[in-house]
Amino acid sequence: MATILDGRKLAEEIRADVKKEVATLNRIGIDVGLGLLLVGENPASVQYFQATLSACRKTGVTAYEFRLPQTVTANEILNLVNKINTDERIHGLLVLMPLPRHMNPRRIINHIVPEKDIDGLGAISVGRLAADESTFQLFRKDSDNADQQSRMILSLWSFLPCTPFGVIRLLDRYKVPVRGKHAVIIGKSLAVGKPLATMFLAKEATVTVCHKETQDLAAMTRQADILCSATGRVGLIRAGMVKKGAVVVDIGISVLKDGSIAGDVDFKSVSKKASLITPVPGGVGPVTISMLLENTVRSAQRNELFKSPLVVMG
Ligand SMILES: NC(=O)c1ccc[n+]([C@@H]2O[C@H](COP(=O)([O-])OP(=O)(O)OC[C@H]3O[C@@H](n4cnc5c(N)ncnc54)[C@H](OP(=O)(O)O)[C@@H]3O)[C@@H](O)[C@H]2O)c1
Repeated sequence: MATILDGRKLAEEIRADVKKEVATLNRIGIDVGLGLLLVGENPASVQYFQATLSACRKTGVTAYEFRLPQTVTANEILNLVNKINTDERIHGLLVLMPLPRHMNPRRIINHIVPEKDIDGLGAISVGRLAADESTFQLFRKDSDNADQQSRMILSLWSFLPCTPFGVIRLLDRYKVPVRGKHAVIIGKSLAVGKPLATMFLAKEATVTVCHKETQDLAAMTRQADILCSATGRVGLIRAGMVKKGAVVVDIGISVLKDGSIAGDVDFKSVSKKASLITPVPGGVGPVTISMLLENTVRSAQRNELFKSPLVVMG
């Protein structure tokens, strides 16, 4: 039987660190602020919005709530984002997806200044991740390395997308070796699959990315030392698709008719074959929100660092 990769436990640990760092900032008069922008009433988004508010309350982060009706125009949202961009109280902005069909979500996301793009989905953040300018954040222990430091300066204002960053943090927490391993990712979205692939490459894994057009998915997944699924297709991954001893990370979240939550992986059968596995719920989900708060605190710290008269930019 596989060992459980316990996301709730890791999320609590990260939140405890966030709480301490928020308290340290509070002592020097800085309040950490997170903006949450929700358009409409999509049940999954409302649930995520509420869960994030609750995490803010537990850690001392001040949440600024912006709730808009489904009928709002793109220009009204862009004006609001402009205001948040220059609001000194707010260090990060999360725009909950999906946005109404009548607007282009990339236009909205790209309007967030990179300094406040704490979910790392704007074009600049995505580019910096692809250019390996922000991946130093995946190697916290190596931060005294000179090369890492120079990358850190370049990437000072970009953040890693919270869900894939949370996956890497969860694997780190359970000391899962990544270098030289074959990571197979199912899903190629901008929020999950693609950045996760880039993060695994930065950690020197061999990476395969699968999607709907992949021929013979099982032939790919059976090669995985680390298998990550992010499709939202309940039960897509069955035991016959998994190599014995593989590490299985289920990122998928689907709300079933009875209101319960299910992942992409058939947990019952796959957990008999895997060495480590995430449950759903209680796996990657809780870690995502903690990473969002961690990025927000980092933004507040960076903001303060750059305001300091003692920092000389060369
Ligand atoms: N745990 C968390 O914190 C967290 C955070 C974000 C998202 N999620 C969950 O993760 C899942 C994916 O989210 P997303 O935003 O990445 O979704 P998305 O944008 O809809 O992307 C889904 C991806 O899965 C691929 N796919 C769908 N069905 C497939 C199949 N049968 N075989 C192979 N590939 C398939 C799609 O391929 P194509 O590109 O070819 O269409 C696409 O690349 C959802 O369940 C979402 O709720 C969880």
